Amino acid sequence: MRHSEIPITSPWFDEAEIASLAQVIRSGWVTQGPKVAEFEKAVAAYTGARFAVATTSWSTSMFLTMRLRGIGQGDEVIVPSFTCVATANAIRQTGAMPVFVDMDRRTFNLDPNLIGPAITPRTKAVMVVHYLGMAADMDAINAIARKRGLLVFEDGAVALGGGYKGKKIGNLGAPTGFSFHGRKIITTGDGGMLTTNDEALAAKARIVRSHGASVSDLARHQAKGALIQEYTEMGYNFRMTDLQGAVGVEQMKKLPAILARRQALAARYDRLLAEMPEIETPYVPPGYEHSYQTYLVWLTPKCRVSLEDILKATAARGVSCRHSIICHTQPFYRKLCGELRLPLTEEAARRTVALPLYPQMTEEEQDYVVATLKDVLMGK
Ligand SMILES: Cc1ncc(COP(=O)(O)O)c(C=O)c1O
Repeated sequence: MRHSEIPITSPWFDEAEIASLAQVIRSGWVTQGPKVAEFEKAVAAYTGARFAVATTSWSTSMFLTMRLRGIGQGDEVIVPSFTCVATANAIRQTGAMPVFVDMDRRTFNLDPNLIGPAITPRTKAVMVVHYLGMAADMDAINAIARKRGLLVFEDGAVALGGGYKGKKIGNLGAPTGFSFHGRKIITTGDGGMLTTNDEALAAKARIVRSHGASVSDLARHQAKGALIQEYTEMGYNFRMTDLQGAVGVEQMKKLPAILARRQALAARYDRLLAEMPEIETPYVPPGYEHSYQTYLVWLTPKCRVSLEDILKATAARGVSCRHSIICHTQPFYRKLCGELRLPLTEEAARRTVALPLYPQMTEEEQDYVVATLKDVLMGK
């Protein structure tokens, strides 16, 4: 069998998204309005957070939140380097400096023991990343943050649906940002969402995401009489459109099925790869629920083929795998933060590979991925 292309991931859209989108287009109200509000309610209800505020991306949701919490010039924010560069960029955009730390080898997440040594008199916050779709160890991180007087923010960009000790990511204590970019668990093309239990933060975020206007477009449109608005804050245009909200509402209905399928495929990968000494499959601690936005494996010392050769050889056979990006070695951050050594993070950049995973993936496709990987690792 030869597939023309097995993508790294693929959004699950069908007639439901098309119908919802058509309804919004026919209604004529396409800017932020009722569909975004419905999408926000669905995300709040799902995660268990009291409030959800939609924005244009994870980046804008967390930039906004950090600004509203007072993060800015002269502050330092501790963040893992093993994350999307957008995590560090959002910190830098506030004027603060990201302070990169190493990771836990088994979970790929922030190692709570590394927070203390990274604290300086300028440290204001920790940006926790629930990377690959699995929660970081929030109990340990929150305990250190409380003790040392640090704010916590959670990057849940890829982790909608992930769980930690009976709670969903988005309701683990700190303001959390989600992404709806096309590679995420659910997607609206691009888009983001802040979840929080802090009513004042949610209210301010709604104002600041829309130019700082005290009255939303929808409220003005729906008002019987004239509504006078004023601008109490410096705002931005971080508004999600109702076109995106319409897709998001339908995607949320599919979320349980998407997660179940991703988890079933991940468990099947675990079984199929178990006998390969060159591969170490992902570790999920007890009490954690992995959403498997990314199925990432370690290449063990038994693997003699380089990561680059694996990526090239699998691509040539129609299978899209990916390597991991780390932040502190990127030219921009090397210049900004200087040379840093984070051994585990650097090893992960050289020795991990993400395998294709998406809800519509068939077992036949998955078997082909595994067979291709086996051949490539045996130098065939
Ligand atoms: C961990 C993580 N954080 C943040 C982002 C940025 O999300 P967005 O593109 O919605 O700003 C991504 C996106 O890939 C991500 O993987």
